[in-house]
Parts: sequence; structure tokens; C-alpha cells
Amino acid sequence: MRIVVLTGAGISAESGVPTFRDADGLWDGHRVEDVATPEGFEANPDLVLRFYDERRRGVASVVPNAAHSALARLEEAIGDDLLVVTQNVDDLHERAGSQNLVHMHGELRRALCTACGARPEWTADLIDRPPCPACGERKLRPDVVWFGEMPYDLDRIEQAVIACDVFVSVGTSGAVYPAAGYVALASAFGARTVELNLVPSDAIVPFDDVRPGPATEVVPRWADEVISAL
Ligand code: APR
Repeated sequence: MRIVVLTGAGISAESGVPTFRDADGLWDGHRVEDVATPEGFEANPDLVLRFYDERRRGVASVVPNAAHSALARLEEAIGDDLLVVTQNVDDLHERAGSQNLVHMHGELRRALCTACGARPEWTADLIDRPPCPACGERKLRPDVVWFGEMPYDLDRIEQAVIACDVFVSVGTSGAVYPAAGYVALASAFGARTVELNLVPSDAIVPFDDVRPGPATEVVPRWADEVISAL
């Protein structure tokens, strides 16, 4: 049974990582256009570099939760039949043990060199314009996909969504495409669709199975059900 799990900010919420559109979410404190667009970076690079330096430091100080661990446990049980596609830029899935993982919106722990295109792992601040390890130019930016930019690995993701038997959406509001369209694609190709979210999202097509609740409760329960039915 091939499973694709799409995760969003809600899976990291109980680890203490702020979501985007909940009350006091990230977009309450910042204007998207100022900190999450190429134009915003162009207009005020220091503001944007500091915003991501702060988020990178924040993620270094939190730990994966039971929902991340449950998906790692499921991967141990079914291996390559599970692909986790995350919109999150934190590294909590990796730190919980997930390996079959795609970061479609990039990663806080990676930098992107705008001079040579290198994407080195990166945990330090970028505000001081450190040199690119590959080319030496001081032109590193966060390797995070901003609004208006192309997400990563779309072909691989779409192939997996089309081929899967079960599509699960965890902790995402379904507000941003292309991720928001995957439930419709999976459903069109015959997959069973499941939503594990704090509150039912207004997805473009209804999920077959909606299980509202905190990710640390509903994700382990669902994963253990799948594992015990193997
Ligand atoms: N458990 C489960 N779900 C939760 C929890 C929780 N503890 N807390 C919040 N949620 C749900 C909210 O109900 C909401 O549906 O998680 C979802 C978070 O939605 P958003 O804040 O919109 O985050 P996300 O869907 O990941 O945003 C998608 O938008 O801003 C861009 O690039 C950014 O990747 C992000 C994308």
C-alpha cells in the first residue's frame, strides 16, 4: 500500500514552531510581501535575512513531537511505500528519523547561493553575509521557496501523489498551491484521502476520512492503525 503524507505547519505546532495562519501566526507578525517574496528580499535584504536567522535559531531550540515520530515509525514499517512531502522548512521530520522526505518549500537549514546556485547545509546566521562554501561569493540567501518562486521536486511529488493508494494531509490549511491541489489529484487517481488536522480545512475536494484533533494525538493513532493492519 503506497502512502503519501503531506505535512504543513500544524504538525510542528506542538513542538513550539509558529504556524502561519492561526491566531498570532507568523503572518500576523509580518507581511508576507516583506519577508517571503523575492521583491521583499530585494527591497530589504537585512530584514529578510534576520527574519530567517531568527526562525533558524528557533527551530534549533525545539524538538520533534509524537506526530513526527509516528511518521518515522511508519517509514520503518513500510519503507519506500511511504513518502512524506512537507511544506515545512524546519528539520523536525529528519530529526524524528524520516528519510523518504521532500521539502517542497526548501529548508531553513540550507542556504542558496545566488551567485553559483549551490545549496549548502547551513545552520549559522546569514545576516553577516558569509562566503559561499562553493564559490566564495557573499551572496547567500535562505534556501526557502518564497511566494512567486517554483517549489522544489514538483515532478517527483506529482508522480507519487498519482501513484499512491492513500493520501494523508496533516496540519495544513490548504491555502497555498500546488500543495493545496494534491488531495484532488490523489482522489482523481483513486486514492483514499485522509485529513489529520486540528480543525477540518476547507479543502477543494472533501476528504474520505476527516479526523480533527491535535497532530500529536491523531497522527500516532492513524499510523498505529496502519502498522497493525500490515
Ligand atoms: N495539530 C494539527 N493541526 C494543527 C495544529 C495542531 N496542533 N495547530 C494548527 N493546526 C492546523 C491549523 O488548523 C491549520 O489548518 O495546521 C494548519 C496550519 O495552516 P497554515 O498556518 O496555513 O500553515 P500551512 O498550511 O503549512 O501553510 C502552507 O503557506 O505561508 C506559506 O510557505 C508557507 O508552507 C507554508 C504554506
